[in-house]
Amino acid sequence: MGKDVIIACDFAGKQETLDFLAKFGEERPFVKIGMELYYSAGPDIVREIKARGHKIFLDLKLHDIPNTVKKAMAVLSGLDVDMTNLHAAGTKAMMEAALEGLTRPDGSRPLLIAVTQLTSTSQERMEADLLIEKPLDEVVMHYAKCAAEAGLAGVVCSPLEAGKVHEVCGADFVTVTPGVRFADGDVGDQVRVTTPARAKEIGSDYIVVGRPITAAADPVAAWKRCCAEFIG
Ligand code: C5P
Repeated sequence: MGKDVIIACDFAGKQETLDFLAKFGEERPFVKIGMELYYSAGPDIVREIKARGHKIFLDLKLHDIPNTVKKAMAVLSGLDVDMTNLHAAGTKAMMEAALEGLTRPDGSRPLLIAVTQLTSTSQERMEADLLIEKPLDEVVMHYAKCAAEAGLAGVVCSPLEAGKVHEVCGADFVTVTPGVRFADGDVGDQVRVTTPARAKEIGSDYIVVGRPITAAADPVAAWKRCCAEFIG
């Protein structure tokens, strides 16, 4: 399993993103493109960053009927991204259809990762709004198991859950974990945070790091520090 640091490029537009990546010179960090950038800059931003040699996690969190998700995944697979995702709440049938759509004629495909319950969903809101009355961590582990049974490569989860996900779904099931902060850094709006070094100990496979790198005075130094702590 390739441990890596994924930089969340949460920028509003193409130029800002390319200016940021230009700071890295010859280095080619793994980057995450989310809804904001994709919806403003379109598939061209993916092609452009890919052509520069970066690996890409396209974080669009698909959730629709299986046939629609299958066709959308086929389009994303054609963009040659390395990792993409969907909501496990779309059911196993949707996840299986997504995998089919994502698989290229030569059998290769990007890593497909499931979002379980969003970290913005509390126990209280899950019960009141979604009528799910089980403990949140049980729901997260159940969704992770469903994703594994559907053949997905892994889940997005808190670094604090990565060890348990590996216990339940196997060591090879990938954990992609946001909510990472340096020990001496700003927490911002994240609640349950972990340092890169601790995420490594717990067993995260990929950490997703945004503002500790993008808002740093020296983003390249911050990325290198992350890599040193997490990959060693
Ligand atoms: O800036 P920061 O390091 O908090 O960025 C974390 C990134 O991971 C953001 O793109 C955020 O949307 C994403 N994310 C998260 N928590 C989740 C899922 C995704 O922070 N549960």
